[in-house]
Amino acid sequence: MTLSLSFLLVFAFYSCPFFTSTEGRVVHGLTKHKHLHIVSQISLPPVPAPAPQATSPSYIAGFPTPEPSPTRVFNVLSFGAVGDGSSDDTQAFKMAWDAACQCQTELSVLLAPVGYSFVILPTIFAGPCKSGLVFQIDGTIVPPDGPESWPTKTSKRQWLVFYKINEMSLQGGGVIDGRGEKWWNLPCKPHKGMNGRALLGSCDSPVAIRFFMSSNLTVQGLIAKNSPQFHFRFDNCQNVLVEMLSIKAPALSPNTDGIHIENTNNVHIYNSVVSNGDDCVSIGAGCHDVNIRNITCGPSHGISIGSLGIRNSRACVSNVTVTDSVIKHSDNGVRIKTWQGGYGSVSEVTFNNIHMDTVRNPIIIDQYYCLSKKCANQTSAVYISDISYINIKGTYDVRSPPLHLACSDSVPCSNLIFSDIELLPAKGQFVADPFCWNAFGDTQTVTIPPLSCLSEGIPRFGDQTIVDQC
Ligand SMILES: *[C@@H]1O[C@H](CO)[C@@H](O)[C@H](O)[C@H]1NC(C)=O
Ligand SMILES: *[C@@H]1O[C@H](CO)[C@@H](O)[C@H](O)[C@H]1NC(C)=O
Ligand SMILES: *[C@@H]1O[C@H](CO)[C@@H](O)[C@H](O)[C@H]1NC(C)=O
Ligand SMILES: *[C@@H]1O[C@H](CO)[C@@H](O)[C@H](O)[C@H]1NC(C)=O
Repeated sequence: MTLSLSFLLVFAFYSCPFFTSTEGRVVHGLTKHKHLHIVSQISLPPVPAPAPQATSPSYIAGFPTPEPSPTRVFNVLSFGAVGDGSSDDTQAFKMAWDAACQCQTELSVLLAPVGYSFVILPTIFAGPCKSGLVFQIDGTIVPPDGPESWPTKTSKRQWLVFYKINEMSLQGGGVIDGRGEKWWNLPCKPHKGMNGRALLGSCDSPVAIRFFMSSNLTVQGLIAKNSPQFHFRFDNCQNVLVEMLSIKAPALSPNTDGIHIENTNNVHIYNSVVSNGDDCVSIGAGCHDVNIRNITCGPSHGISIGSLGIRNSRACVSNVTVTDSVIKHSDNGVRIKTWQGGYGSVSEVTFNNIHMDTVRNPIIIDQYYCLSKKCANQTSAVYISDISYINIKGTYDVRSPPLHLACSDSVPCSNLIFSDIELLPAKGQFVADPFCWNAFGDTQTVTIPPLSCLSEGIPRFGDQTIVDQC
């Protein structure tokens, strides 16, 4: 069969939108034989059912249903993908996406099968789609190799974008390999091994996977590695479940955050392992109702809320819980960082049952976050309140105090609660004096080290102080 003929057949059998649902059923029946024929030719593996709901909390409404039928599978090989690691498979993915997205069935599966490595140029997979979608990666997907091979006139800030999708699961046993090395080595990046950082806004590098203005999303099971920049970024999304991910990049790879969320609500991040060169999970402005559980981070820069309030912006973050996690060999453990001069607030945050292993700043609030050393102090600040640190134990790297609470001069932190804190030096001398500045709250149990620098009670705010509680 020639390639073009097979394309035609594929189109006849895989395109849903030309048929009404009744006709669709008939056509489906009639073409069953051919359909199976094509299937056997490309040895399509059985469609893996979405992960059993038993492992996901059943109270999250709206994720792709586990009912697999009627399911239509759109294998990228049937759309001309080669998967040899060098041919450009972008068109095949786009066609498979369009077919899956337009298919009026309960669930459409776009399949990138095991045993192949697909090269995909920067692409926006746009919705809305007519059905729930599974983007099943069992093989490997890779972008062009480095900035030289990136298509000109294409944004260098993102590789694969999912835009305006409701109900999609990105899943599989495969690998998303961002081939970041040539990006990390760009001369504008902070030099390997140095403490400096790239200047803001310079040196664009692509986020590997971005979900934008989408909802009811699941990302599970995949290995994502060596992204040029963030591995996953969710912005302006709702109802997100991330689980069983493995994210890996070298400890000195710049800005390779594992999972970044921004303006995104109702987010659940579970059972994943991240080692990388920047934040393990970072939570930006506009996020609320975020639940992170059973994450192992490290080496990394820990779990961060922020940075918030850059260029006098307003940031609101609330109801964030991080529980049952491990942070090891990292610059920071749990961190809240804000710039001088912001507005808004961070509130109702709980860090509970977190084990630290050789972490430089296990617990840190930094309201003087600044990359250039040239940030003037300002009178406004993001207001930090109602933050609980419970059962945080383990070891720190003695180069910095294990508790560092640097709150704003004009807008003190309030109601910081500490309970069952036990942090010991990984090696070397016990650091007896944590750092506090304008930090108000309460220790409910004796902390190790003692947190006598914490101010008791409720701070007084100056008459001119703007406390913007969002
Ligand atoms: C997400 O799913 C829920 C529950 O099925 C649904 O009510 C909601 O409309 C969906 N979100 C969007 C933006 O469609
Ligand atoms: C925690 O996550 C790991 C994967 O990182 C998983 O193997 C383990 O079963 C999870 N533990 C619990 C209690 O869910
Ligand atoms: C906090 O977020 C969780 C999801 O992580 C949600 O179930 C809960 O209702 C939220 N609480 C409040 C008070 O909004
Ligand atoms: C900003 O304020 C902090 C706390 O009062 C102080 O330690 C720091 O030196 C100030 N920075 C500048 C640039 O004035």
